[in-house]
Amino acid sequence: MDATLSAELERVRQDFRTNLTACTKERFERANIALEEVRTRFFGKKSALQNLLHKLGDLPPDQRKGFGAAVNLLKQEMLRAFEQTQSSLEEQSGAQRLEVERLDSTLPDRPQHLGTLHPTGQVIEEVIAVFGDMGFRAVEGPDVEDDFHNFVALNFPPDHPARQMHDTFYLQGEKRMASEGSSPSSEPWLLRTHTSPVQVRTMLEGDLPIRIIAPGRCYRSDSDQTHTPMFHQVEGLVIDERTHFGHLKSCLSAFVRAFFEQDSVCVRFRPSYFPFTEPSAEMDVACLRKEGALELVAEVSPRSDWLEILGCGMVHPNVLRACNLDPDRYQGFAFGMGVERLAMLKYGIADLRTMFEGDVAWLQHYGFSPLDAPSLLRGLRPQAC
Ligand code: DAH
Repeated sequence: MDATLSAELERVRQDFRTNLTACTKERFERANIALEEVRTRFFGKKSALQNLLHKLGDLPPDQRKGFGAAVNLLKQEMLRAFEQTQSSLEEQSGAQRLEVERLDSTLPDRPQHLGTLHPTGQVIEEVIAVFGDMGFRAVEGPDVEDDFHNFVALNFPPDHPARQMHDTFYLQGEKRMASEGSSPSSEPWLLRTHTSPVQVRTMLEGDLPIRIIAPGRCYRSDSDQTHTPMFHQVEGLVIDERTHFGHLKSCLSAFVRAFFEQDSVCVRFRPSYFPFTEPSAEMDVACLRKEGALELVAEVSPRSDWLEILGCGMVHPNVLRACNLDPDRYQGFAFGMGVERLAMLKYGIADLRTMFEGDVAWLQHYGFSPLDAPSLLRGLRPQAC
């Protein structure tokens, strides 16, 4: 292999070792965070190893194979070292915790540690309240899904590239399916990558017209500053015989104004692509970055930026067909929005990861009293579908 390429591999190896060793020197409260940073930096989508793999195509053919194999070997070596450090840190932190965190059960309780509602739950309640006011029903679907509901019925053919963007977690148990031929086939269960399968479940129930929203957890094998492996979405679906794109635009614009409690929010719809809608769009709101957090603005200016808050579109005829609805008779729109992003924008939260840390001080600051929950439609709980 070319000497510069080997030198580059060696540099990554050394850099990784230095950073990994540094984690073991952290106190246990910090060690996990440091380890997570190393994982994102060295194994994430923008890691040096990934960059080296991207260079593969530019190499002369005789060098490609050797270099690819060397990068993969190094990756395996680094993964082994990472896992070893991770398990030894887990052991140490358990021991250190036992040392440091002594519990004196005779002490009086601490009234300042009263619990609060997490902004994620609060925002879900608020979204339900706004759409509830427009006549939408809230429903829920399962977190563990199958390929049919998560992909096939939503018009993702087996080898469709859009499936890769979903970084799916597959489970070990298998779903047995009766197939048309002789022997039944099986396929892995998966953690749903979006709330869109609830659209499929609702349409298959065949109870029309449909006007639902579906809040819930979603999972993707992705973790960096702006992604977490578990996150929340709210899905929406309207199906009847007359709903058109104009309804979609006015419904979502009205939602944004009611949710952010501002009549003057600037929105725009940008053409986009999703396999399950045609035409598809993304909706952006105009905002400005202030002290790390984003704030909505009433006017677009050279200093303002657009932030995408949801995907939407008219339900694709193939999806209607897969759900036993006649596309010549029925039509409608769907949308999906990220709850954490809405919460960050509405409540000025700068860093996504803080929403998952369960830090009591953070919750005291950003959490809500149970009495603050939206009262408009309090009691409208999601039903199982
Ligand atoms: N399921 C999409 C995602 O997770 C979001 C989405 C986009 C949902 C467009 C929709 C839609 O219902 O119409 O990225």
